[in-house]
Amino acid sequence: MSLRSAPRYAPTAAQSRFHRKVRRARFAVAVAGRRGGKTQAGAAEVRERILEDSARKLTEVGPWRPSEGKDPKPWLRYCVVSPTYALLNEPKMALQAYLGMAASGGMIIEQGPTEWWLVGGIRIDFRSGDRPERLVSHGYDGIWLDEAARLKAGVWAENLRATLSDTQGWAIFTSTPLGRNWLYEQIWAKCDPKAAAEVAKLQGKKPEDILDPSFQGATWTTAENTALAHLAAEMAQAQIELPEEQFARNYRADFDVFPGQIFRLIEARHLLGHGPDMSRFKSLSAGIDIGSTHPTSCSLFGETWAGKWEEIETESAAGVLFDDSEDWARRKSDGDMWTSRVYRLLERWAGPDWHRIPLKFPADRPDVRQQFEARGFNVESAFQEHEAAIAWFQTALHSGRVAVRSGVLWRCLTNIRRPDAGKRSTKAWVDENDDEWDGARYALSEPIASGEVPTRTSLTAMQQWGARR
Ligand SMILES: Nc1ncnc2c1ncn2[C@@H]1O[C@H](COP(=O)(O)OP(=O)(O)O)[C@@H](O)[C@H]1O
Ligand SMILES: [Mg+2]
Repeated sequence: MSLRSAPRYAPTAAQSRFHRKVRRARFAVAVAGRRGGKTQAGAAEVRERILEDSARKLTEVGPWRPSEGKDPKPWLRYCVVSPTYALLNEPKMALQAYLGMAASGGMIIEQGPTEWWLVGGIRIDFRSGDRPERLVSHGYDGIWLDEAARLKAGVWAENLRATLSDTQGWAIFTSTPLGRNWLYEQIWAKCDPKAAAEVAKLQGKKPEDILDPSFQGATWTTAENTALAHLAAEMAQAQIELPEEQFARNYRADFDVFPGQIFRLIEARHLLGHGPDMSRFKSLSAGIDIGSTHPTSCSLFGETWAGKWEEIETESAAGVLFDDSEDWARRKSDGDMWTSRVYRLLERWAGPDWHRIPLKFPADRPDVRQQFEARGFNVESAFQEHEAAIAWFQTALHSGRVAVRSGVLWRCLTNIRRPDAGKRSTKAWVDENDDEWDGARYALSEPIASGEVPTRTSLTAMQQWGARR
């Protein structure tokens, strides 16, 4: 197989360290800061492994003979998985560069949107992990999970690992950390002694029980990507612009979780007085979190022309009913149902345009959503990815690009805490009284999902830190 036309890969020192470390390991792990060169390193490692697999298979079973028919059985089959379909672009581009097109001496013969064929009957499938049930279980000879930490927790353990068992295939994990989630517990702890000690303590085991020599990995920071000279300077700037936790994760590639208060609000800067001047807003957006035993909370936010998001009002209450079977048109101004409460909240600030304001709904109560839709609200689906919302809000508070006005949202935010070190929690935090936070983050669905990082000045390495769909 010729690779004449493929560009030469000149790994940075950090990337070389990774390739050496994982050389003989079935499972390879690269944890690095944003733009650190993980995807490039992953693609280069995939190419090496494909070449090795085909050389071995050639001596063990002889050359590939194309099978007859429309759906030929691949000789070797691989899979690349990213958290979303859009995020598959990066590994695709890197693979295309390093595998090269067959027409000019490389390996790729055919490129469909979700399936590539390489010379010699080698097939690569591309899958997004946002619908794990669609990750059909073929056997694979190798899998690459890019931005693995952002995949849902069960995708590896419940959907993908088994697809490697028939072939004893390999897996490569490349990722920026996202706190101590599944990637830390199930993957990184198997190759990193410090993480193994931590996880062992939590699980009442010994570090030796956690460490697994078939897992090997390396970690490096953004600034260690010496292929892009400006990243070192940008990392220094990011340390000033970002909250500590977000800097540690995204640039230093720390798995650390900072225990204690998540949102640090400073009264003078973040709590506004009453009565916003509505002409300052270029758009409005509302979000609602439906509680059954907990309060229901609805927040209205405005985006100013200067690119800042201000809370306008939040209404939160427990025990208010949803279904108003009474005549809506007659009762909307004085009814005590959630539909009329939200109507009055929006109408107070937007007048007759109340029905234009997007009202972001979570997916868990389609029945309630339907009631609002039927009454003419501009209902849209909320963006519900939690860590992305935390990262966005922490950063926006830090840079002064979000402001809180109501006492009820203020109190809720200041009480949200991560568990103390050494404590495990399936939720991001200790308490469950986060209803107003949920309504607020749903209202902010658009900026959070846009992937833009709300710093004062733009940090190139941070753009697309995860939410973009
Ligand atoms: N070994 C390398 N040689 C040249 N450029 C590189 C190398 N490694 C990374 N880069 C460049 O650095 C940037 C970030 O690399 P990438 O692998 O996409 O980072 P990450 O996946 O960690 O965010 C890309 O523009 C890429 O082209
Ligand atoms: Mg990448």
